[in-house]
Amino acid sequence: MNSHPETAPTVLITGANRGLGLEFTRRLLMRGAHVLAACREPARADRLHALSDDAQDRLEILALDVASPTAITALARSLGKRNQPLDWLINNAGVLPSGERFGEIDADVLDHSVRVNALAPFLLVQSLAPLLRRGRSPRVANVSSVLGSMARCDAFRTPSYAIAKAALNMASVLLARALAPDGVRVVALHPGWVKTDMGGPDAELDRAVSVDGMLDTIERLTPETDGAFLDYRGEPVPW
Ligand SMILES: NC(=O)c1ccc[n+]([C@@H]2O[C@H](COP(=O)([O-])OP(=O)(O)OC[C@H]3O[C@@H](n4cnc5c(N)ncnc54)[C@H](OP(=O)(O)O)[C@@H]3O)[C@@H](O)[C@H]2O)c1
Repeated sequence: MNSHPETAPTVLITGANRGLGLEFTRRLLMRGAHVLAACREPARADRLHALSDDAQDRLEILALDVASPTAITALARSLGKRNQPLDWLINNAGVLPSGERFGEIDADVLDHSVRVNALAPFLLVQSLAPLLRRGRSPRVANVSSVLGSMARCDAFRTPSYAIAKAALNMASVLLARALAPDGVRVVALHPGWVKTDMGGPDAELDRAVSVDGMLDTIERLTPETDGAFLDYRGEPVPW
């Protein structure tokens, strides 16, 4: 990543207040990027605000509940009014409903998971496409999961999440096809199993390892990787 202030990318990240989103923000700032860090409740995003001191005006905290299509449209409209291109979009916000058992799946839980994990990234890319088309080496990373891989599914586990991430994978392929003619690279990324609130303390990876790997992978995207499902090391994940 070019860290010269005038050429460093502008990156929008969703769910930036904790977990992988906070780590994306921290490490992108270290790499010189301008970061638009979106989260549901900016007033309560203390760890995000704590990054501002060292960010030298390169961090802006925005409100976005990705479950709201109206909020997505409003954010895109307000960014559009600034006439500022967007270089990268990292669709990171996600939810993992726990404790689900076959026969007892709640329709509202399933609906919310699909809305946050799959519909929101699709709608956000669609709304921000005009700004991405004007970006420099524009890229979209949809943070998916190996739990959305049909090939790797060997047990009935986390169905609301798995269904939603599989849908996100298809959304990523469709978005890649829609935006390839404009030079916008789009992929789905599996971060690995990472120590966050979602991944839990027994997870395999530290956040820094996963996020640095994903950022390096995003930087290396080419037309050949359009619509690919890659892990944090850039290795393909089976569909
Ligand atoms: N950790 C892992 O092992 C792992 C593995 C595979 C994939 N992933 C994926 O990686 C991404 C980040 O996960 P994580 O481990 O960092 O999870 P996390 O620690 O649970 O953080 C989830 C983030 O998503 C935000 N979020 C949830 N619903 C939202 C909404 N409606 N609008 C805006 N933001 C919302 C949360 O904000 P609030 O604080 O407001 O709730 C939080 O910032 C997710 O897409 C997840 O599916 C994680």
